[in-house]
Amino acid sequence: HSGYVACLTDPAQIECHALSRKAYTHKGSFGDVAIIGAAPGMAGAGILAARAALFAGAGRIFLVQPDTELRLDMLHPEIMCRDARQFEFNKQVIVIGPGLGQEQLAADLLRAALQHPCPVVIDADALNLLATKPELAALLQTRTAAALLTPHPLEAARLLALSTEQVQQNRAMSAKELAQRFGCHIILKGAGSILCGPQDRHYRINPSGNPGLASGGTGDVLAGLCGALLAQGMEVGDAAAFACWAHGAAADELVAAGSGPIGLHASELLPVIRSLLNRL
Ligand code: APR
Ligand code: MG
Repeated sequence: HSGYVACLTDPAQIECHALSRKAYTHKGSFGDVAIIGAAPGMAGAGILAARAALFAGAGRIFLVQPDTELRLDMLHPEIMCRDARQFEFNKQVIVIGPGLGQEQLAADLLRAALQHPCPVVIDADALNLLATKPELAALLQTRTAAALLTPHPLEAARLLALSTEQVQQNRAMSAKELAQRFGCHIILKGAGSILCGPQDRHYRINPSGNPGLASGGTGDVLAGLCGALLAQGMEVGDAAAFACWAHGAAADELVAAGSGPIGLHASELLPVIRSLLNRL
């Protein structure tokens, strides 16, 4: 495909100065992230995304739930649990989808998130809603603030009305098609995640990660990590590339230490990602 070239993400080439901390800062300096998800029966997905935002340095984290099944993350009381029916959008970076469900309230929340003039990360059930509701897809296309879609191959296939096999046979073109169709940045997940933006003439392949990541919840961690980097002021393409790299590199460190690939689980990524961010 002429002009559409691949390059490997090199973490040394990503602008991470947004993450370095000056002395005269306060929690407002590092942004607010609202995770919208954690519906009944899927609370863990939202909690993992919220915890990832916490461990990746966001100033304040809200977990906004369609039903307040959860009043508090007892392990991480820093996370503020809110009822979606009462939540006010106010300059937060939004991560919507992990454990969101696809009820009417979920669709209403996605509409509100798409109309919110701040960066938004769209994952999991929010992607499934986009695939089934053309009016929401149209809202996404007309949005001006940054949007990052993080589909796994099946979610990408639903958005493109293709089979998963068709997406996997041409991952780069699938990611490009999604980026152009929706005017968004894309992370097409899976071994060697593909990244591209709507105007890009190239795509990136993430070199880090291993099959230890093939366990439930690791994608939720990636979504929360992306939200935290955006809240700290990273540009959306850099945030996506750096999040993928750090997420995979954390899994690689865990495997090197003997904690995987067998039995590696999403929660274990969190302190390792934090350590990577502080070693930059
Ligand atoms: N090598 C490298 N990376 C991998 C590998 C692998 N073999 N397998 C998975 N990964 C990475 C992906 O790139 C991605 O970052 O792990 C993450 C998996 O993300 P998801 O597929 O979204 O998995 P998960 O978090 O469990 O999703 C939970 O949400 O997406 C919905 O309905 C979906 O049930 C699913 C739920
Ligand atoms: Mg997922």
